Amino acid sequence: MEFFDSHSHFNDEKFNEDREEIINLMYKENITKTVCIGYNLKQSKKAVEISKNTAFIYATCGISPNDIEDFNEKNLREIEKLSHNDKVVAIGEIGLDYYWNKENKEKQKELFIKQIEIANKLNKPIVIHTREAVMDTLEILKKHPVNKKGIFHCCPLNVELIKEGLKLGFYISFSGNITFKNAKSEETVSIVPNERILIETDSPYLSPEPYRGRRNTPSNVKLVAKRVAEIKKVSIEEIAEITYRNAMKIYDIN
Ligand code: NI
Repeated sequence: MEFFDSHSHFNDEKFNEDREEIINLMYKENITKTVCIGYNLKQSKKAVEISKNTAFIYATCGISPNDIEDFNEKNLREIEKLSHNDKVVAIGEIGLDYYWNKENKEKQKELFIKQIEIANKLNKPIVIHTREAVMDTLEILKKHPVNKKGIFHCCPLNVELIKEGLKLGFYISFSGNITFKNAKSEETVSIVPNERILIETDSPYLSPEPYRGRRNTPSNVKLVAKRVAEIKKVSIEEIAEITYRNAMKIYDIN
């Protein structure tokens, strides 16, 4: 049984002390692929560097709405240049976040749209970060279609968003949030068809139960798989296989 953690941040400084060790451990525990996600220029460069050094780690490049201070034309050109690389499998994480930032909505939208344009130019999918911004995110995706589609990462447990996202052809990636008590995981996980579901850790953030609050690592993707398997009433082996296959497909990895 092998797992694909569709979204992690080995570029994060929380891994500076033991990055190699955790990467080796993850592989030993059968998490045999992950994508190191960029979120600003510096961390996109770092993600590419990590992907160069490790065969089973891929990368994305992008400027997230929470790193809006990185938004200028020069940096966008850099992101595009960095993404001209076989190990860069998507543009992301990009999107809208009105939870942390309400004051610059227009600027966030502009940055999101400009990076959709980069994805379309390079023919790559996108990894979407959306928080408290469901309507605006969907509106942008409808007005600015992404050729290669993409992934709703750490998907908010919002039935409307998931239904609309699926209609637009996107994949839905669940993280440790589905293991939390009171999470609306049953009603949201169960509406995602097998061919569109992904699992992720978002390491080092968002540890699943029973490790909530501690540093997360890709090994914990098994706990997310276990919860999905419970809800869908199938074996964890089946969820491992389905989500692995889906991640290979959307990230176009052979
Ligand atoms: Ni993330």
